[in-house]
Amino acid sequence: MKRKDALATNREQTKIKELCGATRQNDVMQPQSLSGKKSRSPKRNSLSAPHTVANPEPMIAVQTLTLKSLTQDDMQRLASAIARCLRGGEVVSLEGELGSGKTFFVRQLAHALGYAHHVTSPTFVLQKLYDLPSNPAGLEQLIHYDVYRLTTYDELLDLGFDDLSPTAVALVEWGDRFAHLLPASCWRIKFSIADDSHRNVDIRPPQDRIAALQVELDREQLEAAISHE
Ligand SMILES: Nc1ncnc2c1ncn2[C@@H]1O[C@H](COP(=O)(O)OP(=O)(O)OP(=O)(O)O)[C@@H](O)[C@H]1O
Ligand SMILES: [Mg+2]
Repeated sequence: MKRKDALATNREQTKIKELCGATRQNDVMQPQSLSGKKSRSPKRNSLSAPHTVANPEPMIAVQTLTLKSLTQDDMQRLASAIARCLRGGEVVSLEGELGSGKTFFVRQLAHALGYAHHVTSPTFVLQKLYDLPSNPAGLEQLIHYDVYRLTTYDELLDLGFDDLSPTAVALVEWGDRFAHLLPASCWRIKFSIADDSHRNVDIRPPQDRIAALQVELDREQLEAAISHE
């Protein structure tokens, strides 16, 4: 194995151990947040998810909100609800089979945040940037990734994934392909096809956003079942 590959593998293993330490203790995790924009480290040996907390908070069970059989209109309202819960500096992992609605969701989310232009899949360009107009959350940019074709950690870092601004939100289609590299505090949203025109959605929000999301889902009259992992 080449030295660079070995280093990358070691880094990944360290990262896996760190994240597993936070998530595999009886399916509980500690809330964590991205650190905000920082200059790219010459060693590029970490994503911007801090894995140490000075004052660890109590362990909290992971919660999943499940919405069943959403129409495209429901999906638009779901995107609006989630848009109002975003704070910036965070990662949203979009998961689920081909055609399940990941790009559709990003389009609705971007429009909910005032982006007026067309949103298409970044499958071939890997990354797209959407500059947002002024909005109450102070979000300035959405960064839309599709990591379906990526195979290595370095390819992901080359896209600037470790350099997220606190005023940006990273939307990562196929984020579960790099699940061990996602910040523990990220949103994980999994889409599945119910039928031609309906989708089921499992949402695992950051722990500190669950209450806000429930309020916003109620406001959109969307019903979610909550399960504790
Ligand atoms: N209820 C629904 N919610 C979302 N999309 C729907 C729904 N019903 C039908 N669709 C259609 O499903 C398709 C979803 O395609 P989309 O490109 O968003 O999938 P994707 O998950 O991004 O796929 P890929 O993995 O190939 O990137 C769109 O053509 C959309 O119009
Ligand atoms: Mg897509």
